[in-house]
Amino acid sequence: MTTDNYPLDPSRIPSHIAIIMDGNGRWARSCGRERTEGHVAGVNTVRRITESASRLGVKYLTLYAFSTENWGRPRAEVDALMHLISMAIERETPDLIRNNVRLGLIGDMQRVPDDVRRRLEKCVADTSSSTGLNLILAISYSSRVEITAACRRLAALAAAGRIDPSAIGEDDISANLMTAGIPDPDLLIRTGGDSRLSNFLLWQAAYTEIVIEHAFWPDFDEALFVKAIADYQRRERRYGLTSEQVSDSSEPSGT
Ligand code: FPP
Repeated sequence: MTTDNYPLDPSRIPSHIAIIMDGNGRWARSCGRERTEGHVAGVNTVRRITESASRLGVKYLTLYAFSTENWGRPRAEVDALMHLISMAIERETPDLIRNNVRLGLIGDMQRVPDDVRRRLEKCVADTSSSTGLNLILAISYSSRVEITAACRRLAALAAAGRIDPSAIGEDDISANLMTAGIPDPDLLIRTGGDSRLSNFLLWQAAYTEIVIEHAFWPDFDEALFVKAIADYQRRERRYGLTSEQVSDSSEPSGT
């Protein structure tokens, strides 16, 4: 598998890529436009990168579209983002079906306006038999809220005598997260140049390789996506072991 500048090893395409799509506002400001125009441009990037991920054989693509904290943005921006997500999903559903892409959602959907939630849920239902790329949108998502909810559920089961607290393991936590059944991300890309996780997949990203890309999300394209994957492919994933141990044994699954 080749691109102009970054040849990729097709046998080591990350199975799950998570993306913090940052920089829409700064992109807009840099060309003298309104912040919401940055989000409009960002939707085009979502389409582009979904197509690239699908073509490259990525199995899961999780996009941080709207965090719990984003509810605190000015009302007009929140409304514009919800409207954009809704319109984009309505417009893209036929293509998602045609391209065998399955939509999934993580986040507190109860806070999402009814019409937007219904449209998202319809797309989830309409694409449920797709077997290609799993496109997961994190909307109204907070990793700490997610982990807290998992702890509450396990605590309630323990209080009811249905599980033994001392037997709770990491798998039980994982199974009670919104990402239950989804493998942990292999690669996390953040655009816009900042180096932080911003409450995104904190538990799941324990051993995820992180690539920070300076381009703003609207300028992120297939070449930069491939460059990030090539960067990932150059790294050695040690999972706390030594380099010698890792090269002596086959890589852990999912890498
Ligand atoms: C961060 O940029 C971006 C967001 C908060 C929203 C991202 C959402 C989209 C691109 C639309 C998603 C649509 C679909 C269909 C998934 P920012 O506003 O924080 O930028 P800044 O850091 O430059 O201010």
